[in-house]
Amino acid sequence: MKSILITGATSGIGNHLIKILANSDYKIYFIGRNKLKCEKLVEELRNKYSYKAEYFLCDFSDLSSVKTACNKILKSLKKIDVLVNNAGKVYFSYGKTHDNFERCFQINYLSHFLLTEILIQNKIITEHSQIINVSSVAHDPKSSINSLDGIKNKDLIGKINFEDINYEKENFRGFSGMFYSRSKMAQIMWTYHLSKKHKDFFVNAIHPGLLGSNVINESGFLGKLITPFFKLFFRSSKEGAENIIYVMNKVFEENISGKYFSEKEESKSFEKTYDLDDQKKLYKLSQNLINKFS
Ligand SMILES: NC(=O)c1ccc[n+]([C@@H]2O[C@H](COP(=O)([O-])OP(=O)(O)OC[C@H]3O[C@@H](n4cnc5c(N)ncnc54)[C@H](OP(=O)(O)O)[C@@H]3O)[C@@H](O)[C@H]2O)c1
Repeated sequence: MKSILITGATSGIGNHLIKILANSDYKIYFIGRNKLKCEKLVEELRNKYSYKAEYFLCDFSDLSSVKTACNKILKSLKKIDVLVNNAGKVYFSYGKTHDNFERCFQINYLSHFLLTEILIQNKIITEHSQIINVSSVAHDPKSSINSLDGIKNKDLIGKINFEDINYEKENFRGFSGMFYSRSKMAQIMWTYHLSKKHKDFFVNAIHPGLLGSNVINESGFLGKLITPFFKLFFRSSKEGAENIIYVMNKVFEENISGKYFSEKEESKSFEKTYDLDDQKKLYKLSQNLINKFS
C-alpha cells in the first residue's frame, strides 16, 4: 500500500484530493493547522468512507510548528510515496508571519521547503517517491491576475528579489498579486532545482486550474466578499484534485521529473523560472533562511 501526505487538506483542492483517495488503496496522512477542522475531517472520512486517516498539526506561518510536525512525522512514518505540497493562500496585502517573512513567501513556499528538506534528509522521501508542488499560473507575470502589478510594480514582478527577499525597502500599499505570484514562482524554481539534485525520486509542479475555493478568503474584507462569487463562477476545486491525481499517476507510469503541468498537460513555465543560477541562488538562500530549524 502506498502512502500519501497532503498539506492543506481541510479545504478546497486538498480536501477533495483526500476524499477521492479515500476510495483508493492509498494510506492517507494530512497536515492541517486547525485541530477542530482536522478532527472533523477524520470523522467525516470515518463515517462516509469507512476510512481511517491520520493527521499532523502544523501552521505554515510558523517554522517551529513545521519542525514540530516533522518530528512527529519522522516518528510515525518510514516512507512517503507521494508528498503533495498544497497548502497555500493568496494575500493581496503586505503582511508578515510569526518568523518575520512576507506571508505568501513563507506559507506557500519556505515552510514547504523546510518540511520537504527534513523528509528528504531523513530518507522518508526516498527512491521512487514523488513530490508534487501545487503552484499556480499566477507565477507568470503575464498572467491576468498580475496585470495591475505589470504596471504598478513592473520592476519587481516576475523575479525573486534576492537582495530584499522580504521587500523591506518597498512601501507597499493597497492591492497586489505580486506576493502570491513570487511565492508560486519560487515553488517552480525549487521544483526544477530539486529534480536535478535528486535523481532517485520525482519532483514536479502543477497549476491545478482556476477553481472556486477559499484561497482568497484571508485577503481582508474584499477577499471574504469575493469568495462566494469565486466559488459560484469558477469550476469546482474537485477538478483541481482530479488534475493532481492524473499527474501523480502519469509521473509514476512515465518516470517524469522536473516538469511543470498546467492542469493535465505538461507545459512551459515563465521563462525566468528556468534560470539555473537563480534556481541555485534561491535554493541556497532558502537553506540559509531555514538553517536553525533544519
Ligand atoms: N483555487 C485556485 O484557483 C488555485 C489556482 C492555482 C493554484 N492554487 C493553489 O492550490 C492550493 C490549494 O488552494 P485551494 O484553492 O484549495 O485553497 P483553500 O480552499 O483556501 O485551501 C487551502 C488549504 O491550505 C491550508 N492553509 C492555508 N494557510 C495555512 C497555514 N498557514 N498553515 C497550514 N495550512 C494552511 C488551509 O487550511 P484551513 O482549512 O485551516 O484554512 C486549507 O486547507 C494553494 O497552494 C493555492 O495557491 C489554487
